Amino acid sequence: MNDELTAEIAKVREQLLGQLNQVQNKREILRSPSLKSLYSRISTLDPQQRAGFGQAVNALKNEIEKLIQSDISNTAELPPIDITAPFGSDKASERFGLLTADSGSIHPLMREQDLICEIFSNMGFSTMESREIDDDWHMFGSLNFPEGHPARDDYDTFNIVQTDEQGHPLLSPAHTSTMQNRALQAYQDELKHGRPIAVILPGRVFRHEDVDVRHEHTFYQFEGIYVAEGVTIGNLIATLVSFLESYYQKNVSFSTQPFYFPFTEPSLEFSIGCPFCDQQGCHICSGSGWIELIGCGMIHPNVLKAAGIDPNKYQGFAWGCGIDRLAMMKYGIEDVRLFKSGRLEFLRQFSPGGNL
Ligand code: DAH
Repeated sequence: MNDELTAEIAKVREQLLGQLNQVQNKREILRSPSLKSLYSRISTLDPQQRAGFGQAVNALKNEIEKLIQSDISNTAELPPIDITAPFGSDKASERFGLLTADSGSIHPLMREQDLICEIFSNMGFSTMESREIDDDWHMFGSLNFPEGHPARDDYDTFNIVQTDEQGHPLLSPAHTSTMQNRALQAYQDELKHGRPIAVILPGRVFRHEDVDVRHEHTFYQFEGIYVAEGVTIGNLIATLVSFLESYYQKNVSFSTQPFYFPFTEPSLEFSIGCPFCDQQGCHICSGSGWIELIGCGMIHPNVLKAAGIDPNKYQGFAWGCGIDRLAMMKYGIEDVRLFKSGRLEFLRQFSPGGNL
């Protein structure tokens, strides 16, 4: 490395050392433009100079990093830490290297959830968050599953020791449909004013599942409901297609099959063309070219009645969709368990520019 380059690095070093006593958040020094410009400089140099210069810049960064670390350890007031951040539990004898709170990034599923709510917000839908402990009425009764109905078995989930007033155990919701009755009640004044009920209900759901590449016991869904006068199944399909085209940023091919849910009549399974094989048939779509993505249908009159809405005057549609599944298709992820694996190399792919 020539003298000119050595002097360049020395100048930046002096600057950074000066900042150590001045700035409050010392980690900001590592993001300083002068350090960044040294890194950008590397690719502009002659090949003979490049390696030496690169090593010297890295050495400078390491030196500053160490100084920051010891400065922080010597300060009584430690920076905030994120206790949920991963650390090396296999290095039990060493001091755990917890990451600072500003080293994290948003989990990919939460980013997708925000994006989904934003797309629907642009389509006029409000958002209401689901809950993680619920009761038998919201899980079944209000959704037209009478006591002892066999379809209750499809929604086997974790029960909680505490019970509701009728003695039914409280439970963790197996789907976001548990929120339908609450949202229909909360927004029904809209109908009186001649406006539709249009709500998105995202949330975490739980199922008694055999876990594999496509099934998790804990995952995310979003429910949608739309109620007004004269609503048809055509409106349902147009809404889902507009959403999916906006979410995937491309035209999607779709198909529907008749299905059964107690809370919709008629009920449909909505599938989209498999993006992994361009509908040629592969192991992900089990050779069919289609992936079942959304359960949906026209809201059953008993569900509207349970929320105090007259089914002779108003009709509505509803759907439930897994966020993990949507995201897997978008990013080509083949194993749903990766989302909760805590593997940094997996998560880092979704935080470009992040410093996790
Ligand atoms: N709750 C269903 C499930 O998780 C999905 C679903 C189907 C939701 C039809 C709906 C619907 O709102 O209308 O299996």
